[in-house]
Amino acid sequence: EKGDTHIFVVLGASGDLAKKKIYPTLWSLYRDGLIPKKTIFVGYARSKLTVHDIRNKSEPYLKVRDEEKEKVNAFFKMNHYVSGSYDMPEDFLQLNQEICKYEMGSHCNRLFYLALPPNVFESSTTNIRNHCMASKGWTRIIIEKPFGRDSESSTQLSNHLNALFKEEELYRIDHYLGKEMVQNLMALRFGNRIFGPTWNREHISCVMVSFKEPFGTQGRGGYFDSFGIVRDVMQNHMLQMLSLVAMEKPVSTGAEDIRDEKVKVLRCMPEVKLEDVVLGQYIGNPSGEGEAKEGYLDDPSVPKGSTTATYAMVTCYVNNERWEGVPFFLRCGKALNERKAEVRIQYRDVPGDIFHGESKRNELVIRVQPGEAVYVKMMNKTPGMSFNIEETELDLTYGSRYKGLVMPDAYERLILDVFCGSQIHFVRSDELAQAWRIFTPILHKIETENVKPVTYTYGTRGPKEADELCQNKGFKFYGTY
Ligand code: BG6
Repeated sequence: EKGDTHIFVVLGASGDLAKKKIYPTLWSLYRDGLIPKKTIFVGYARSKLTVHDIRNKSEPYLKVRDEEKEKVNAFFKMNHYVSGSYDMPEDFLQLNQEICKYEMGSHCNRLFYLALPPNVFESSTTNIRNHCMASKGWTRIIIEKPFGRDSESSTQLSNHLNALFKEEELYRIDHYLGKEMVQNLMALRFGNRIFGPTWNREHISCVMVSFKEPFGTQGRGGYFDSFGIVRDVMQNHMLQMLSLVAMEKPVSTGAEDIRDEKVKVLRCMPEVKLEDVVLGQYIGNPSGEGEAKEGYLDDPSVPKGSTTATYAMVTCYVNNERWEGVPFFLRCGKALNERKAEVRIQYRDVPGDIFHGESKRNELVIRVQPGEAVYVKMMNKTPGMSFNIEETELDLTYGSRYKGLVMPDAYERLILDVFCGSQIHFVRSDELAQAWRIFTPILHKIETENVKPVTYTYGTRGPKEADELCQNKGFKFYGTY
């Protein structure tokens, strides 16, 4: 409500995530007047810092235009900072006292963003529960992965959180759910008549979800090595995209109805098997074209001889009436040839082709980034005298269709959703448990049997074995995506 005070607490305010993502997001929301006027920001971390230090750290990431200088000063005036540890109740009592100073009016809500390493998730949430809950309004907790590293550790964290908070107080971020095109998947599917009737195993041959990054671990090798690409990207971001492609139409656009359908998709998915996986690790290309790039093992923060995968492709199945037998390929990798995230729905061949085998399969492509677009690959008569056909596209590229549109960042949408109390784009605990069920056996197997990834060169499309695997399962390549 309008006059309410909101206190937004950033735990881990001195860290990387806070300076690169959280403060810039809070600034944009403040600048654009999207969050309630009476919102106060309180940073919390171990180091003895001041708001001035926080400002210095985050300012390079804020993207302040010249004419916004005043406004950014005003934003930092709304900021405060408290130092304290994550396991000392006294420190959280002090944080609570600080928060109370700024709470005015009859309704005061509190949001806690945990921009923290996972080893302090439990102690800090216990302390929030015991000492910092709002007494005159709601409290919401925003947490970000890693939510454990397998079923067991994730269940432990979920049990811990569920004992402290109600599900509606917990906002588990998967920032892919904040992306325009990921949100658009439901609009495309359920807001159009043309896709629905063919959205099934009768008509769709395969689904390919891709995530490609053109850079390596960039000094994050330590964190990355203990997780690997499957935990970092596939078990969360990519599986979310798969669920939105595969789910049945929800009863409504309400958060529980949507999440119920997503969970059902996951429940129909068998555990991933080793023979359906290709793992890769990049090596350097010192003499390659362009800039010399270092291999994964050349990163000093990566343990010597590490067999952690930086690339993975898996074939998943959704064994229900709609999808049984349709392979869903999830492909993701670092240090590849380009930055791209997309969903590609490949239809079956046209039956009874009269065009001498020239018809190519239709594809519906949803490009998540960069350059948001939806396009349909389709056959068309080559214009002119001949009666040949050729492949072309029905093209909805946002850059040309919605000129001048500035797309909000995923974090901006998601943090705004937390203010509004909308959990549509957040991960429910049963959804998380299902995601781990699908990937835990294979992750354990890879680790206990020390399965070695194949190598691929920095800046290439990744292991050829991945292309072979999806081709063998029925995917047709018409280009080099
Ligand atoms: C994060 C991963 O969740 O997503 C990173 O930890 C990855 O490794 C990032 O780079 C990708 O996000 P985006 O929004 O840049 O595609």
